[in-house]
Formats: sequence, structure tokens, C-alpha cells
Amino acid sequence: MTQPRYYFTGDNDKVNLDFGNLGFDYHPCPYRFEAVYELGVWRARGVVEETAMTLPEGSQCLHYGQQLFEGMKVHTGADGKVYAFRPAENANRMNEGARYLQGPEVPVDLFIRGVEEVTRANLPYVPPYGSGASLYVRPFYLGIGDNVGVKPASKYVFRIFVTPVGPYFNGGFGPDQGKSFRISEFDRAAPYGTGHIKAGGNYACSFKPCAEAKQEGFAEAIYLDPKEHRYIEEIGAANFLAFKGESLITPDSHSVLPSITRRSLLRIAREIYSWPVEERLIDKAELDEIDAAAACGTAAVITWIREVADGEKTWSFPFDQRWQQLYDSLVGIQTAAIDDPFGWRHEIK
Ligand SMILES: Cc1ncc(COP(=O)(O)O)c(C=O)c1O
Repeated sequence: MTQPRYYFTGDNDKVNLDFGNLGFDYHPCPYRFEAVYELGVWRARGVVEETAMTLPEGSQCLHYGQQLFEGMKVHTGADGKVYAFRPAENANRMNEGARYLQGPEVPVDLFIRGVEEVTRANLPYVPPYGSGASLYVRPFYLGIGDNVGVKPASKYVFRIFVTPVGPYFNGGFGPDQGKSFRISEFDRAAPYGTGHIKAGGNYACSFKPCAEAKQEGFAEAIYLDPKEHRYIEEIGAANFLAFKGESLITPDSHSVLPSITRRSLLRIAREIYSWPVEERLIDKAELDEIDAAAACGTAAVITWIREVADGEKTWSFPFDQRWQQLYDSLVGIQTAAIDDPFGWRHEIK
């Protein structure tokens, strides 16, 4: 395998991109990581250059949705080092999905090696500290093969690409950056289906509710529980958080994707700020009593909710300073601006 090489003409060791003004868009980077599973073993192909993939036409990922993906971010730290955030958690979540979709797990070591290699290979594309941007890392998993029957594949591809990104919702985080969301009458997941894994099929069926919300000027759709349409579940590709009095509350549901950002924020709330935390059902009617609300996720980080609309009814929420505290702690840990008491930073050497 040839080693990636970059030659710079000035002092800068970054590509000439306007990192401070990136949106959440795909910007191709030179290298990706790939591994292939066949006959019971994963074989790392390592870092490769082709963005295009050639798949057999009968591949299960193309017909039956035997596919998974992950999303995580790599940051340049205040100390100049480069860090991934809790990559083993993404590997574990992908493997939860692999078990459900009846494919082989990706060894956590292979997953992390891939994140490290693809980041190192694309180092000039990792946004600098202070730019507000990060390197989005997209691992994905495909069941492939010459097949026509409805059954799991015997061969798999695990690939990771990266792309530098800015904020997911325009404007990013700040007291004047609250967003409005609309409750959808559609579902993204079945009550005991695949909502808890990051399978691509969960997302295609969110395009229509999301498009409808956006056509009406909202940032995204909010989903209710798919059984009773009564409890708040998720916000597009983000989890729901709220403050009710002293407590930070978040939905407890099988059909919600277990967000690594949410898990991290709940721990920060409990252990750094000593705030009470409740994971429980949140009735839509409880929006009347909630003091502040937010969406959280790798891409959304924390996006506070200014407004929730449901048909003719609208709830409005103010910015709550506690979002700022959670944001500063989370992003501070991710970017080495503060200590990491939980051991979440994973340095890419
Ligand atoms: C449906 C859904 N919910 C929540 C999240 C947030 O999860 P995380 O914080 O692990 O990115 C994501 C993004 O991965 C998602 O796709």
C-alpha cells in the first residue's frame, strides 16, 4: 500500500478550504478505509482512493436494506492534537445493528483502526481548532453478493469515508439560534422494529415527513411514539432533551436511536452539574409544563428548540443557560479545551 503524501507550498498544513463557513455537506476527501468480510474473516484493504464502489447487482444492501451506518466527529484539539470522540461506542452500536440484521460484527479494533487510518490519511482536511468545523466520519456496512432470495448476505463491506463539516442546522449553537420543529403524523420506526439501530431503511422513510416539515418552514420533523402517537420520541436524526424544573428529561423508548451524544450529556448533567436526570415517557401534553427543550446528536450537537408546532397548536420555549453549560462541557471535552474526566477523547496519533 502506498502511503498518502501531501506537499504544501506555504506554512499551512491544511487544504485551502473555508473551514469557518462549511455547511453539513459532502466534500470529497482523497482517502477512505475499507475492509471486506468473506468466509468468516474480515480482511482490511486499508486506505483506498476510489470514491466509487462496485457491488454485485444482487447485493442484499441494494434490495433488502441489509445496511448500517454510523456518524461521528473528529476534532482538532486546543492542544493541536487530533481526537475522535468515543469511537468504541459507535462500533458497539453498529454491532448491535449487525446482530439484528444477521450479519457479522465488525471487530471493535478494526473499526477503531479504520477511524484512525482514514483520519491520518486525510489530515489536511481535519478542520483547525477554533474554526467551528469538524471532520465528520461516516462508517458504513453493506451486505453484498450474487443473490436474489430474502436472506442475509455471506459477504460484507465495511467502509469509512470522512468529510469536513460545519453545523447541521444553519447558524450552529447560540442563544439566538433556536430552531422550530413540527410534530409529524408519520412514523420513522415501528414500536418493536429497527428504530434502535442505525439501519439505512429507517432514514428513507423519514424523507417525506422531513420534506413536509421543511416545506412549512420548520427545521425538521418530530416523531411521536409509533404505537399511541402520544409520547415524544425523536427529532429527525437527533434525540429529544428537555428541562422540567431542575430535571433534565429524555424519552425512554425502544424505537429511539440510543444517541451517544445524549448518553454523554446525561452523564455530564449527573456527574459534573449534579442535575437530576430522568429517562422516561414524555407525553406530548407535558410540553405545557416543560421549561426548555433541545435536540442533540453528533451532527446537531445541541440545538435548542424555540418552537414545537402540532397542527394548530404551538409551544414556545426560551433559551436556557443550562444548554450553554452542557454545550460548553461537551464540546470542551471533545476539543480538549477542558479536562476529560470520563476518558472519552481518543487521540489519533
Ligand atoms: C435517528 C437518530 N437519532 C439520534 C441520533 C443522534 O445519535 P448520536 O448522538 O450518536 O449521533 C442520530 C444520529 O446518529 C440519529 O440518526
